[in-house]
Amino acid sequence: MQKLIIKGNKTLSGTIKISGSKNATLPILASTILNDKKIEINNIPLVKDVITMTELLKHIGSNIKINLAKKKIIINNKEKFLKTLAPYSFLKTMRAGVIVLGPLLSKFGKAKVSLPGGCAIGTRPVDIHLYGLKKLGAKIKIKNGYIEAEAKNGLSGKKIKLPKISVGATENLIIAASYANGTTFIKNCACEPEILDLTNFLKKMGVNIKWISKREIKIIGGKKFKPVSHSVMFDRIEAGTFVIAGALIAKKLKIVSLETKIIKKELKILKKMGIKLKINKNEIVILNSKNIKPVKIKTEPYPGFPTDLQAQIMVLMTRANGTSKIKENIFENRFMHVPELNRMGAKIKVSGNLSKIDGIKSLYGAEVMATDLRASVSLVLAGLIAKNRTIINRVYHLDRGYENLENKLRKCGANISRTNY
Ligand code: UD1
Repeated sequence: MQKLIIKGNKTLSGTIKISGSKNATLPILASTILNDKKIEINNIPLVKDVITMTELLKHIGSNIKINLAKKKIIINNKEKFLKTLAPYSFLKTMRAGVIVLGPLLSKFGKAKVSLPGGCAIGTRPVDIHLYGLKKLGAKIKIKNGYIEAEAKNGLSGKKIKLPKISVGATENLIIAASYANGTTFIKNCACEPEILDLTNFLKKMGVNIKWISKREIKIIGGKKFKPVSHSVMFDRIEAGTFVIAGALIAKKLKIVSLETKIIKKELKILKKMGIKLKINKNEIVILNSKNIKPVKIKTEPYPGFPTDLQAQIMVLMTRANGTSKIKENIFENRFMHVPELNRMGAKIKVSGNLSKIDGIKSLYGAEVMATDLRASVSLVLAGLIAKNRTIINRVYHLDRGYENLENKLRKCGANISRTNY
């Protein structure tokens, strides 16, 4: 099992280029099930989840080719009839695989998709996905760990109000509605930038989609689509992670290939903490920042502060002059990194979905365990500022969502390496 070894207390200087967004690439790939024309997707991040999604699509019969050197995917499904079974082997490591349910059901009238595997950060049910698909006319049974869905005459457009904001359910339903008969309105949508990237992709392939308001979307279903070429948006969570790394130990770190207006909320909070940032449209420079101030934050659906950056900003809070607070509103069990950070000397107390972080002088290296994707990267950040050596186990979590993390950090001066034992 691979481990990361970090010798902390170095500084970061140089330039880090942000990769394409994992969370935008996954639903875009799922939506290609609908289109028989040639599709080209550029700027894909080379991370495990994206590879797993391409393998799932290949498994169901998609003619998908990935060009690793050019970070490009080409799909050509002309006259292909895809299999409608998405097995557990793919869904057990990548919950987002459930987004193939909407397009398979909509296009082929039936789909059997494994219920996603368990997850350390919470129960993560798919009831809202199923609620929306039923509204569109699907008959759904859960049997032997699988979702068995049927819509013999195709799905039919409807007005749907989601009972709770869900990124994945919004994506599943938008894609399903793109091939349904008639018009669908979805209210109480998630409006994460990755969903806008998905709707931009669908519009390019000829789907009639209109955002009516921030949380309502109108989709007129169609059956014939156009060839499409698309470049995936930047990964805003990767960008936020590196800006926080800079806030912790930059001499002068430049982050490029991003759109700063998309991460306005995060940057505002970092400024409030006293981080020295020079912000331009497509790049940020982070300068050495001392006297970090404590803050109170809560995680919320976009445009609020993202739950996917909660663990990382918590590491920065350990450096503040005073006590910071975090309220985690999205996932019920997303403080798994806290015991590990405390083992490194942090003073963090958790009570339900609240955590209280007392600023301390320094963290100390330890052997720690990654529990999920964002928790693992928070341990990397902690290792970067810790005295002595930090060893991070179970780094496969990190590889699911961060492209080339060690190389990007090492190029800027971090002492980080990977071992196989
Ligand atoms: C997506 C992101 C993930 C991010 C999360 C919240 C991808 C691939 N993943 O995950 O990185 O942390 O958004 O921003 O884009 N829920 C239900 N029933 C459902 C669906 C969700 O109760 O059917 C709950 C979840 O348990 C959670 C909340 O709704 O408490 C939000 O989840 P959701 O927005 O669906 O997250 P994902 O799409 O799984």
